[in-house]
Amino acid sequence: MSKHVYGIDFGSDHLKIYDGITKKLLNERNMIAKKGKEVLASGDQAYEMFEKAPKEISVISPMSYGVVADIGSMSLLFEEFFKKINAPKKRKSGDFCIAIPTDISEVEKRAFYDLIADSKIKSKDIVVVEKPVADAVGLGIDMDAKKGAMIVNMGAETTEISVVSQGGIVLSKFLRFGGKQLELDIIEMVKKRYNLVIGQKSAEVVKIDLLNASPQVDESNLNLKVVGRNVISGLPSEKVITADMVNDACESSLLRLLDEISGMIERTPPEITLDLESDGIYLTGGSSSITNLSKRIQDTCMIKVNTVRNPALSVANGMAMILANPKLKWLLYTPREDEY
Ligand SMILES: Nc1ncnc2c1ncn2[C@@H]1O[C@H](COP(=O)(O)OP(=O)(O)OP(=O)(O)O)[C@@H](O)[C@H]1O
Ligand SMILES: [Mg+2]
Repeated sequence: MSKHVYGIDFGSDHLKIYDGITKKLLNERNMIAKKGKEVLASGDQAYEMFEKAPKEISVISPMSYGVVADIGSMSLLFEEFFKKINAPKKRKSGDFCIAIPTDISEVEKRAFYDLIADSKIKSKDIVVVEKPVADAVGLGIDMDAKKGAMIVNMGAETTEISVVSQGGIVLSKFLRFGGKQLELDIIEMVKKRYNLVIGQKSAEVVKIDLLNASPQVDESNLNLKVVGRNVISGLPSEKVITADMVNDACESSLLRLLDEISGMIERTPPEITLDLESDGIYLTGGSSSITNLSKRIQDTCMIKVNTVRNPALSVANGMAMILANPKLKWLLYTPREDEY
């Protein structure tokens, strides 16, 4: 593997690409705006156009629930991000390290590899790291220690709950459920309550500003005005949404998450359960920033919950650390042609 390695975390909401030489990390919306075959915008610029663009322009996210849904668009987007991270240089090649979820099908894993191998960017080497392993390294968990750790990575469309030990995966469950589900809960609540259809962008702002996963701990009278379209009149209309409404709307999804975490703790081998009891579990992914989510998990699952400062970047940071440290290279592997 040459020195110029890029680490990539294909998130459903944000695509993260790390340049091993310049140590730059690009983290932008995983979105592309196209008119026919022409790429009009990518990343955050494409997101700006989302829900606003005229019909002839499609603004889409090529990932769905943690896997590649539109390989052509994902490949184009990867090439655009590669250009951005290398600007003003016009590099046309590199080696790549991809973080791949553990509990997905071989065909789904293969798609990540293929989109890089078949893209216009030449790659000599493509290596893979299990996402929870990269996450663990990013969290500073010692991969040589004979200890186990549980990591809950709650992103936008997925939550991966994994138990790692000595650089390997002991247990992993990949849920097609993440922060975006809470936005859908909010959209549905507003529609039922006010006959008002709001967009996903507004729902995300409402979620970030108002949702409190442990409201009794930290009661707030926050509220927000949202603008949408009235289902009956078809006209734009404005309503006030309160934190209580949002908390109620999201409660059943949060209960589901808590149930899944408890279930995984129960399934964890007893030796490792002792490690979890002493060190706690780790919560990462962008959705771990939901207000008081770690507190709620802590109280319900009766276990300490550790969080990190930049939770959405934990996987990418872990990849950066692995690529920079020859002693951690054993965590990477090259998929054989016949493996997938
Ligand atoms: N302060 C915040 N409060 C609540 N949610 C947040 C906050 N900041 C970011 N998020 C959510 O984090 C999610 C993005 O996180 P992340 O980048 O980890 O997801 P992803 O890797 O793209 O998705 P996935 O891992 O599910 O494929 C979005 O749903 C976003 O709304
Ligand atoms: Mg992610």
